Amino acid sequence: MLVNLSNMLAKADREKYAIGGFNMTTLESAMAIIEAGEQEKSPIILQISEKTIDYMGLDLAFAIAKTLADGAKIPVCIHFDHGRNFELVQKAADVGFSSVMLDVSKMGKNERIPFVKTFTTRAHHRKITVEAEEDQIGGREDYVDGNRGHFTEPRRAAQFVKETDVDCFAVSIGSTHGKPLPHEKLDLELLAEINKAVDVPLVLHGASGTDEKVLREAISLGVCKINIDTDLRLAFTRELRRTLKDPDVYDPREEMKPSRDEIRDEVIKHIRLFGSNNKA
Ligand code: G3H
Ligand code: 13P
Ligand code: ZN
Repeated sequence: MLVNLSNMLAKADREKYAIGGFNMTTLESAMAIIEAGEQEKSPIILQISEKTIDYMGLDLAFAIAKTLADGAKIPVCIHFDHGRNFELVQKAADVGFSSVMLDVSKMGKNERIPFVKTFTTRAHHRKITVEAEEDQIGGREDYVDGNRGHFTEPRRAAQFVKETDVDCFAVSIGSTHGKPLPHEKLDLELLAEINKAVDVPLVLHGASGTDEKVLREAISLGVCKINIDTDLRLAFTRELRRTLKDPDVYDPREEMKPSRDEIRDEVIKHIRLFGSNNKA
């Protein structure tokens, strides 16, 4: 069942758990993410990035996600991840995405609030939810490059959220996209301050490889959506390398299935850690 983020995140916020924003990169990963959600009776945020759209096209990416969402017994939000090409974000909203993220970290400071406010007002008329990122999140992952990142300033974040009316806010507190960096450390004190200042659910990006205890603490400090991509790619690739060692395997379905199952298991692991199992 296709839904937006509103009720999903409100319930997670009330009951102190988080929902995974899992990135689909291929048909197989999309199938695996939904399968995991169904097995665990967990709501799912199925995320599509601009790179995935370049890879398979907007219509096909959406058709895959929508077919899976319609066939699922759990709530599924189809979410545009890191929208920086705003024309494409608009197209995604027109095609039927139930939620979008506006990543305005590269936009001039004075343009951000008016742009996000106008976009969000229009999106809300169509029951599309909006997540926003104002400060660059560190690390690098293909199209998403934040170098060293720029930490969120709580009072400025509060003003941004109040003036734009976004549904959730992505914090920059030291997590990085891609494989974890050697000295990566989340600033949980800063997160606590942001949580006090900002009154919408918070989103943590770049959570792959982050210590489980730290993620649990982040959830207790207001994080209701946690984005995971790299851990799923690593699980897929590790298993594919193993499968391809067997010279008798030369059917793509036999090559893909074990890797698809590995993604499913990785998603299940995260669902349990985030506490969203049995919350559908
Ligand atoms: O946050 C970044 C996402 O993991 C998207 O990565 O641009 O390689 O699809 P991508
Ligand atoms: P990771 O690839 O580091 O898990 O980050 C995912 C993400 O933030 C997607 O927006
Ligand atoms: Zn991200």
